[in-house]
Amino acid sequence: MIKGIIFDLDGVIVSTDQYHYEAWKALADREGIYFNKNINNRLRGVSRRESLMIILEKSQRKYNELEIEEMLNYKNEIYRNSLNKLTKIDIMSGVVELLEYLESQNIKKAIGSSSKNTMLILDKIGLKAKFDYIVDGIMITNTKPDPEVFIKARLGLGLQEDECLVVEDAVAGVMASHYANIKAIAVGDAAKNKKGDYNLDNILDLIKILKKGL
Ligand code: BG6
Ligand code: MG
Repeated sequence: MIKGIIFDLDGVIVSTDQYHYEAWKALADREGIYFNKNINNRLRGVSRRESLMIILEKSQRKYNELEIEEMLNYKNEIYRNSLNKLTKIDIMSGVVELLEYLESQNIKKAIGSSSKNTMLILDKIGLKAKFDYIVDGIMITNTKPDPEVFIKARLGLGLQEDECLVVEDAVAGVMASHYANIKAIAVGDAAKNKKGDYNLDNILDLIKILKKGL
């Protein structure tokens, strides 16, 4: 029986994807590095530093650690400026209804995100209090597809592997869920790539799955 759902944040709870893309694009343009939406899809779920390493694969030159730090800060400043504009409007369709349903069924809710901006984002969209446990990028050493974030979230909820589900939009996140031995509900990009145990067009279809039983 499912007793808890662990949600990824970016691209599942809130539509910050475009802001990540625009901030990385600004950095890539400044550095004269080719960057497009396909490369951006590879950044889903992975940490800020690993995202930069993926972007630098297209670079003509090597960067030293000081330059890397500067680029990470540059991207994050642009991104955090965009986050200041976040409101409840940016909550993804169906999420509020789904959280209400889970609450009515006493199913616990957690966040398992690679983002170090998780708390800021949850504050901005007013959903922090809805989650029983939150694991963010500050609390983990290894980024998705490593399972650390979901193992921590599951333990935080006090549940077994088969009592949880993960909801993810990133292919790396679905892999992390599987490495954590938890079934994955894919939405967005991961659903398009049919990577999940269930691949949903609409996150609210999770309610049907829960009602029917896995
Ligand atoms: C994930 C995003 O949620 O967080 C990634 O999908 C991002 O694209 C990662 O790189 C880290 O985010 P932040 O906010 O710590 O830069
Ligand atoms: Mg995501």
